Amino acid sequence: MPTLDIPISIPTPSSVNVDLDPAKLGFGTTFSPNWFQCEYRNGAWGHARVEALQNLAMHPAAIVLHYGQSIFEGLKAYRWADGRIALFRPRENARRFARSAVRMAMPPVDEEFFLEAVRSLVRTDAAWVPKEPGTLYLRPTMMGTEPCIGVRASHEVLFFILALPCGAYFKEAGPSGAGTVTVYVAESTTRAAHGGTGDVKASANYAISLRTIEEGKKKGCSQVLFLDSGGRRQVEELGGMNVFFVEDGALHTPPLHDTILPGITRDSVIQVARDLGIKVIDTPINIDDAADRMESGHITEMIACGTAAVVSGIKELVFESGRHIHIGDGAAGPITRQLNAELQGIQFGRIPDRHGWTEIVA
Ligand SMILES: Cc1ncc(COP(=O)(O)O)c(C=O)c1O
Repeated sequence: MPTLDIPISIPTPSSVNVDLDPAKLGFGTTFSPNWFQCEYRNGAWGHARVEALQNLAMHPAAIVLHYGQSIFEGLKAYRWADGRIALFRPRENARRFARSAVRMAMPPVDEEFFLEAVRSLVRTDAAWVPKEPGTLYLRPTMMGTEPCIGVRASHEVLFFILALPCGAYFKEAGPSGAGTVTVYVAESTTRAAHGGTGDVKASANYAISLRTIEEGKKKGCSQVLFLDSGGRRQVEELGGMNVFFVEDGALHTPPLHDTILPGITRDSVIQVARDLGIKVIDTPINIDDAADRMESGHITEMIACGTAAVVSGIKELVFESGRHIHIGDGAAGPITRQLNAELQGIQFGRIPDRHGWTEIVA
């Protein structure tokens, strides 16, 4: 594991040459000028550095290009009203990154080193953290880069971090994400099976969901709800987010197991809900029962949550088989809005951080 005795070299802080207005940024295509990089070779990590972002040079036989040996993380830096910049629960990302690396047969990076790498990049590109509701999205990534056309784990690994100033993840859910989106229910494909990689952030999990995401987009849906790989009726999670249902004022969510990513936002929503006196029940949820209870008005809200979009409402389910379900009146319900406001309040330093979740970095 790389440890803190490897100094991270850092360039001079960058100035900003693009419009960081969160309303114009969108998500995923604007990059800050620097990135973090460190290579693992011959059993050891090499020179860790933040430097000008550049294209990767890689042998076409690199193992990641053929066998998908790749993992990633997603976390954000938040600019507070007083100008300070905070990370939200970054140690949880460090831990999950290490678990993902082990599952995908790559050397895990030490938690402290991961955190120092993230902090170094955020400090260098601090000027690129947009104002609220914008954020600087951070994308730690690790991949097997050794050239070898043989199915085995790479002995060479690249760990890098990109930083992206971004606005709303779902344009239709508004700048703070507190609006609603439409979700496609995948009934013929799944994203994870028992014993697979659903509970880690392996790039392969996302590769296999792309076709279904595109099908959903054609039907006007911005996320896909995946069901279990057995009978395909049990709710698991969205392609990039966890889900909650509101019934009788309580939050219901499927229990974590090896086909569901343990979302840091999911965990935070559960704790924040309990702080607010909202009952949280983790219980298996059958999609047909849930749809019936939505139609009968018993389930009043459905919620998508993840780092990118924070907490958004789901207003409609479009089943692959043709069933359409409307949830509530189409607007985000009161519990969705309350959880969104509470969580973003903590992330942006407006609400006291009772759990020690935020870390000031700049
Ligand atoms: C499949 C999947 N589920 C859930 C989440 C939410 O996780 P988190 O709240 O840690 O961002 C993500 C995003 O990372 C994801 O990709």
